[in-house]
Amino acid sequence: MHGGGDGPADTTAVLRNGLEGLLFAYCPDKAVAADPVHSGAVQCDGVVPGHTVLEVSHTGVGAVGGSAEGLAAERWLKGARFTFHSLRAHLPSRLWRERTAVNSDEKLFASFMSRRGVLTATGVAGATLAVGPLLGAGPAAAAAQDKTPAQAGGDGPASVLGVPAADPVNTPAVNGLHLQFGSDASAEVVVSWHTLRPVKNARVLLGNAKGAYTHTFGAETVSYTDAKSGQDVYAHHAHLTGLRPDTDHVYLAAHDGAQPEFGSFTTAPRGRTALRFTSFGDQGTPTLGKLSNGTYVNDNLGSPAAGNLPAGVERVRPLFHLFNGDLCYANLATDRVRTWSDFWDNNTRSARFRPWMPAPGNHENELGNGPIGYQAFQTYFALPRQDGQSDTTRGLWYSMTAGSVKVIFLANDDVCYQDGGNSYVRGYSGGAQKKWLEKELKAARADRGIDWIVVCMHQVAISTADQFNGADLGIRQEWLPLFDRYGVDLVVCGHEHHYERSHPVRGQQQNATLTPIPAATRTDVIDTTQGTVHMVIGGGGTSAPSNQLFFNPPACRVITSVTAPDSSTGKRSPVYTREDAPWSAVRDAANSYGFASFDVDPGKPGGLTTITVTYYDVTGTQGEMKPFETFTLQRPRRDA
Ligand SMILES: [Fe+2]
Repeated sequence: MHGGGDGPADTTAVLRNGLEGLLFAYCPDKAVAADPVHSGAVQCDGVVPGHTVLEVSHTGVGAVGGSAEGLAAERWLKGARFTFHSLRAHLPSRLWRERTAVNSDEKLFASFMSRRGVLTATGVAGATLAVGPLLGAGPAAAAAQDKTPAQAGGDGPASVLGVPAADPVNTPAVNGLHLQFGSDASAEVVVSWHTLRPVKNARVLLGNAKGAYTHTFGAETVSYTDAKSGQDVYAHHAHLTGLRPDTDHVYLAAHDGAQPEFGSFTTAPRGRTALRFTSFGDQGTPTLGKLSNGTYVNDNLGSPAAGNLPAGVERVRPLFHLFNGDLCYANLATDRVRTWSDFWDNNTRSARFRPWMPAPGNHENELGNGPIGYQAFQTYFALPRQDGQSDTTRGLWYSMTAGSVKVIFLANDDVCYQDGGNSYVRGYSGGAQKKWLEKELKAARADRGIDWIVVCMHQVAISTADQFNGADLGIRQEWLPLFDRYGVDLVVCGHEHHYERSHPVRGQQQNATLTPIPAATRTDVIDTTQGTVHMVIGGGGTSAPSNQLFFNPPACRVITSVTAPDSSTGKRSPVYTREDAPWSAVRDAANSYGFASFDVDPGKPGGLTTITVTYYDVTGTQGEMKPFETFTLQRPRRDA
């Protein structure tokens, strides 16, 4: 944390701010100096003009988060010591908050965490549900809950409603609260929500696991205008940085006039520690549709099952969840903004307690929303921008480290032949993504702290469903040779609406479909140094499952090219080449919906590390589920 006396060792306190005392700031690469300005505007001149300061904190007051274009947060977090020498530009003034305002936050937080405050705001059931998981953990937590607002926060306001709304009719709520990890999941979390009109003073009040307020982080607001409806959408992202690894936190997300929303999270461990993550893709929303031929349908491919999956994920309480693309199919919907809102309403039940980390799918490509259609996705999520990304491609591919696991998220529309979105965008990165991927993989495999390389992406290299999307030759051409070269252990993907997995594959037949070659055929224990295991986990909740469509015996339809655009629709039709599927290992033909859970066991020095994988069929409204299968991935530790 960057406030008080517990700032990171590599930071430098350099100046006296006229209002608040010591100022901590962080800059990359290059030493610069600073002078205080009483207007509350600052800039590290000489680094990236106009785009430098990412976070400022006041001694004893706590961090005030902010961000600026031109720098990725991880760059400056990793920055060495520096000294400001010219501090004279443009941190938004809203990020400078008077001590009195912060004191109000502290009181607000204490009010919320106190029993009276919680009961006043949410009622008994809501309070128990929301606060129970973390605050019920120990005596200190219980004591915090027992305090009255005055005891907990002094003589300030006891209302958890915060600053009264000047215009309650027009003040939006904190909608769709959700989390993302930054590149370093042990230290960086982004808290996000959205509104359909601007708000003031969007911020996150962070507390520790005992329910005590520690810091306020200002939120950055980004927006887009949905090209179909003309609706403006504002997403508020508070970048929480400098967090301690493997630590529980509680938080409130708030903006002026709105009732704060509660959440909690745990930062990832650093180093080799056990952790759990989950994965599925292709969800849609559970918003009401009609029953047609025995199947629920709505205009964004959702079904009631889309509501069951987050409840299932919550049952196993992962550290984070990998979302393998095709989130809510807003690009099909009559009202795209409503569909996104439904999506967040459904998933905030889980995503406010653990980061849901997405790879973009073809249905995130929405006509008119940005040059290649991903602007909604890029607005709702705050994902770490990578070298080689433009404003158009920012955040579409990225990576994250959690413990001994490196997760690499890919944007497969860049390489797929299939015309699966609202516009045909194959090749949009001009090779930048592939170049980045190779660099990431090379660095990950050279890192003795990283044992596992997991790729999360949408479209698939393998599928044994007939008359569905099929596999895409583009992935086999562009990605598989790199997965082989750098020994990717596991790929999770979606796009096909069922569950199946491959044997570990390494190398490809030199045929028209570049068929992956199985390196082993044992299905209970898999040595991933022999090959990469691909898991199709696309039963997230759509109204169009594909588990009834498996070829028997296993075969695969591979999209090897597309036709010219149809003159009336503009769509390119896929051209398929069928192959046998010697790589096919296990398939779930009986059930349409489910997710996978991954338990990483770091093992012992010099030994093996394992991931125990369980695929759960999810069957009920409250996430009722049963294991379909369990198997083990293993490999030697990199420090062996
Ligand atoms: Fe898809």
